[in-house]
Amino acid sequence: MKRYEKASDIKVGVVGYGGAFNMGKHHLESMKAAGMTPKAVCEVDPARLEVAGKDYPGIETYSKVEEMLAKSSVDLIVLITPHNTHAPLAIAALNAGKHVVCEKPFAITTAECDAMIAAAEKSGVMLSTFHNRHWDGCVLNAVKQLEAGTIGEIFRIEVGMGGYGKPGDWWRSSKSISGGILYDWGVHLLEYSLQLIKSDLAEVSGFAKIGYWADQTKWKADTNEDEGFAVARFTNGKWITLRISAIDSKPSDKFLTATGTKGTMSLDWNAAEIVQHKDGQTVTTRIPHPPGEGQKFYNNVAAHLTTGEALVITPQWARRPIHVLDLACQSAAKGTAIKATYK
Ligand SMILES: NC(=O)c1ccc[n+]([C@@H]2O[C@H](COP(=O)([O-])OP(=O)(O)OC[C@H]3O[C@@H](n4cnc5c(N)ncnc54)[C@H](O)[C@@H]3O)[C@@H](O)[C@H]2O)c1
Repeated sequence: MKRYEKASDIKVGVVGYGGAFNMGKHHLESMKAAGMTPKAVCEVDPARLEVAGKDYPGIETYSKVEEMLAKSSVDLIVLITPHNTHAPLAIAALNAGKHVVCEKPFAITTAECDAMIAAAEKSGVMLSTFHNRHWDGCVLNAVKQLEAGTIGEIFRIEVGMGGYGKPGDWWRSSKSISGGILYDWGVHLLEYSLQLIKSDLAEVSGFAKIGYWADQTKWKADTNEDEGFAVARFTNGKWITLRISAIDSKPSDKFLTATGTKGTMSLDWNAAEIVQHKDGQTVTTRIPHPPGEGQKFYNNVAAHLTTGEALVITPQWARRPIHVLDLACQSAAKGTAIKATYK
């Protein structure tokens, strides 16, 4: 792979400059902070393309990816678009010889991930996914507690988020575009969990409750499931459960609970709550999270492309949570557990 002399030689472009969370600007600023040079924006919505032009005077603007790939000298393209576009846009950019970072989820199916990885290998370019939350304070805290043996040997992780309400009227609530209810926060929660359970994936079962919101409101034909649930079983006998719900009347503020032989650790957004048994007493301790270090994502990408530093979020790592979700969707449709292809 070509090495750049310095980070500022890496010219970067984003595809998608959406208004929901202003993620295009967030990415360009983070890449700038890592020393790289913003060069181009591609966005199909003319109003958002105009915003990008105002945010970055003089930046190249394109309304079609094909035009950007043909005309721009960008080295690295970041895809910040709806989930079902990640694989086709990534493959087009990789085939054009560009390095690619995809927003999460990497893709929707394992087969898409495989095709993306093959395209990157063929072109000899970098492929990664924006798992900046790999360095969230909560997971940094959890890893540290586990390494210190605070809850003994971990054997189960339960992750989940929920609420009760009609999903928003946007692409995120359309299953054919989003991949389903598990593909938004579910990917982050799995990526946290896979850092904590160090074992090979064996099989996945998935369950989906479908149709309450669609039936109630008749507002959308292609609605996400009301609730998705997955059980991932690992070869060492440990397991992860994932639950994302739009029909949960009593959601918990704890989004991750890890149960170990010596205690239980639950994470909310402020702290890790550890419950242990000492001398017949139940002891609860709250350990505040350290600050997040998400900037490390683009710092690592820049170092990888300049000095050859090992890429932290490899495409093979990014494929793991997608493989779990893909198998969960297949399992929910078939009503049986599905064996894993990838560890
Ligand atoms: N890492 C995080 O914490 C985080 C946070 C928010 C969103 N995301 C992810 O970012 C991605 C985008 O989400 P968003 O909230 O920015 O959505 P959004 O709807 O605000 O923006 C998506 C934009 O992509 C544009 N677009 C669609 N197809 C395009 C194409 N072919 N070429 C150019 N532009 C195109 C749309 O016009 C839209 O402006 C998703 O994968 C989402 O899951 C990640």
